[in-house]
Amino acid sequence: MSIKTAVIGAGVMGKCHLDQLIQMDDVEVAALVDPHEPATRAAAEKYHISATYGDIEAMLTDIHPEYVVVASPVRYHAVQAIAAFNAGAHVLVEKPLCMSMEEAAAIKAAAIKAGRLFTMGFQMRQHRGYRALAEFLAEGKLGQVYHSRVWGGHVMNYPWGRYFHKKEESLGGVVVATVVHPLDALYWILGAPEPMSVSASVFCKLNKMPNPPINFEGTVDEVSVEDFAHAHVRFVDGSSMSIEGNWLMHPTQRSMGFEIHGLLGMGRSITPHVELEDGKEIIPHEFKEQTGWGDQTRLEHEEFIAAIQGHGKPMVSFREALNVHKIMTGLYDSAEQGCEVVF
Ligand SMILES: NC(=O)c1ccc[n+]([C@@H]2O[C@H](COP(=O)([O-])OP(=O)(O)OC[C@H]3O[C@@H](n4cnc5c(N)ncnc54)[C@H](O)[C@@H]3O)[C@@H](O)[C@H]2O)c1
Repeated sequence: MSIKTAVIGAGVMGKCHLDQLIQMDDVEVAALVDPHEPATRAAAEKYHISATYGDIEAMLTDIHPEYVVVASPVRYHAVQAIAAFNAGAHVLVEKPLCMSMEEAAAIKAAAIKAGRLFTMGFQMRQHRGYRALAEFLAEGKLGQVYHSRVWGGHVMNYPWGRYFHKKEESLGGVVVATVVHPLDALYWILGAPEPMSVSASVFCKLNKMPNPPINFEGTVDEVSVEDFAHAHVRFVDGSSMSIEGNWLMHPTQRSMGFEIHGLLGMGRSITPHVELEDGKEIIPHEFKEQTGWGDQTRLEHEEFIAAIQGHGKPMVSFREALNVHKIMTGLYDSAEQGCEVVF
C-alpha cells in the first residue's frame, strides 16, 4: 500500500522533496499546499499533483494524508506540524525546526499525543561517508573527544528568496539557515552530548558594506538577521565546540565543514576522514563513499517511510532536534544579552 503524502511549500525545498517523492513506488503525492498560487500551479503541473490548497487545514480535512512534509518558511513550521500531527499524520519538518524552544516543545507534545512519528530535513545524516565516520566514533576509535569545530556559510553570497533575510520569518540568518546542517551532522556524529551553555557574538556585515552583494528579493534596510556568528558551547561531558558562520566570507576552498578532536586523533568532514596518532606517525583513513544531496533526500524519505511501516526508528530523535535548536536559540540569546547563557 502506498503512503498518502502531502507536501507543504512549493519553493526550492518543497520541489527538492517532490523530485524524490514522485519517483518512489510506495508513495502517492496526494496534495500540495502553498498560498502562492502561481508556484502551486506550476509545481502541481510539473509533478502531476491533482489536489492543491492554499492552506493546510482544508487539505488535512479533505485528504487525510499519512505523511506530511513541512517545507514552508520557518515561521509556519510549528503550527503546520502540530496541525498535521493532530490530523493523524507522521511529519518531516524542514530545518530549522521552528521559531522558539516553546514551539519546539509544542511540536513534540503534539507528536506524542497523536502517537505519530517525527523526523527533520537533516539530510547530511544520510551521507554514507558521515555514517561511516559516526560508526568509527561510536566504536571509540578516536578516543575521548575534547573539542569540535563547525563552520559554514557562503563566499559573498546571501541566500535566495523572500524570507531568509528577515528575522520574523526565519528566526535568524547564517546559523539557522546554513550552519544548522553541519552543526546537526557533527552533533549526531558526536553521539548527542548534553549541551550545558553557550556564549556567542553575531554581526551584520551586509548593511555596512559599500557594495553589498544582494541576491534576495528585498533591500539592505530590510535585513534583520546575522550574516556572521561565532559561539563557544560547553557540554556536560566536559567537551567544547566552536561554531562559526559567515554568509559573506572571502574566497576560501572550505566554506562548510567540521573537525573532531579526540585523544587518539582527529576526524574531518571534507571527504570524511580521520588522522590517528599512534605516537610515532599519523595514520590517515578515508571514508570514501560519497552521496549527493538528491540521493540523501531520497534516503531520508525511504528511511522515514520504513519507520512509519514499522521498520527501524526515524533518523532524527526529538532529543537531538531539540538540543540542536537549544544550541542555536541559546546562541542568539547569548549574543543579544552579551553574556554566556546556561541551559
Ligand atoms: N534541507 C535543506 O537542504 C534545505 C534547503 C533549503 C531550504 N530548506 C528549508 O526549507 C524551508 C523552505 O525553504 P525554501 O528554500 O523552499 O524557501 P522558498 O522561499 O523557496 O519556498 C517557500 C515556499 O513556501 C510557500 N509558503 C509561504 N507561506 C506558506 C504557508 N503558510 N504554507 C505553505 N507554504 C507557504 C511560499 O509561497 C514558497 O513557495 C525552510 O525551512 C528552509 O530553511 C532546507
